[in-house]
Amino acid sequence: MKENSLEFLRAEGISERLIEELRAFRSYYHLDEAEAVRVPEPLYPYYGREVWEEAIGALLAGEHLLLSGGKASGKNVLAEGLAAAFGRPLWDISLYVNADAASLIGTDTFRDGAVQLRKGPVLRAAECGGFGILDEINMAKNESLAVLHAALDFRRVIDIPGYERVCLHEATRFIGTMNYGYAGTRELNEALASRFLVIQMPVIPLADVKRLLSGKYPNLRPEYATQFAELFDEIRKKSEGGEITSRALDLRGLIASIGMMERGLSPVRALRLGIVNKCFDSYEQTLVSDLVATRLPESLEAGRVFA
Ligand SMILES: Nc1ncnc2c1ncn2[C@@H]1O[C@H](COP(=O)(O)OP(=O)(O)O)[C@@H](O)[C@H]1O
Ligand SMILES: [Mg+2]
Repeated sequence: MKENSLEFLRAEGISERLIEELRAFRSYYHLDEAEAVRVPEPLYPYYGREVWEEAIGALLAGEHLLLSGGKASGKNVLAEGLAAAFGRPLWDISLYVNADAASLIGTDTFRDGAVQLRKGPVLRAAECGGFGILDEINMAKNESLAVLHAALDFRRVIDIPGYERVCLHEATRFIGTMNYGYAGTRELNEALASRFLVIQMPVIPLADVKRLLSGKYPNLRPEYATQFAELFDEIRKKSEGGEITSRALDLRGLIASIGMMERGLSPVRALRLGIVNKCFDSYEQTLVSDLVATRLPESLEAGRVFA
């Protein structure tokens, strides 16, 4: 799989120079067997040459990355793909409103009659050259993230009160993901944001939606892959034009709907669950429902969609 991930990048048209540098990075940084199991083997690739190139370039330069974008814009798929491409173990660190420094760095525990540090995911990633995914970073309170300041800038250290200072392994990188302006999110303060290079994740283009659907569902008939991709694109246009919100613009929902069709639910009903019903506003719901109806008859059976 490791070689595969570079083959995939080559097929996507990523520059040969970057691929060579990735190869060099991998052979330079040794990986213990215990950590090798954490190197992800992504099931699905991220599509998007420019984003790949920017992300690889930034990480090779030793920078940390912040992926900012709408829901289902492939932030986690890309982050996982990057850890795979660099051949580094990955720690998924989901942030939430009550996340605190201890949950990131570690907590004191009592073991064998002594107080010991139970290492948190940030510390573990830091020590072994891992990739730490700070998922939904803007859900956390800025104060909780302050412990990361010294880790994320040129100092590359984590200072744990009562313990030693830990220097980040050279191969360690952090990748933050965030969905701006979602309910429950906060503004990332400037001090933290300045420690990352930021990629604004684009909405996946129509041709890639088609590739993605066919990749996930190899039995899906090409004409229906096209229909679903075009439906998604229409929803995207209406959402960008301000006619509807982005609620129905839900690739995850579309993918899940096709999964339901595979289990026999009729396409129109499946899309209702995955897409249409995400609009809680009845006007919007009708609009999206009409978009579905113009492409797919209510009577269409699931079996027809697959070869
Ligand atoms: N550019 C893309 N390339 C590949 N898959 C994508 C892309 N954009 C979205 N997806 C798909 O959308 C779904 C959600 O991706 P995910 O990474 O979890 O999104 P996010 O973290 O941005 O909400 C996945 O099934 C993923 O395959
Ligand atoms: Mg995500």
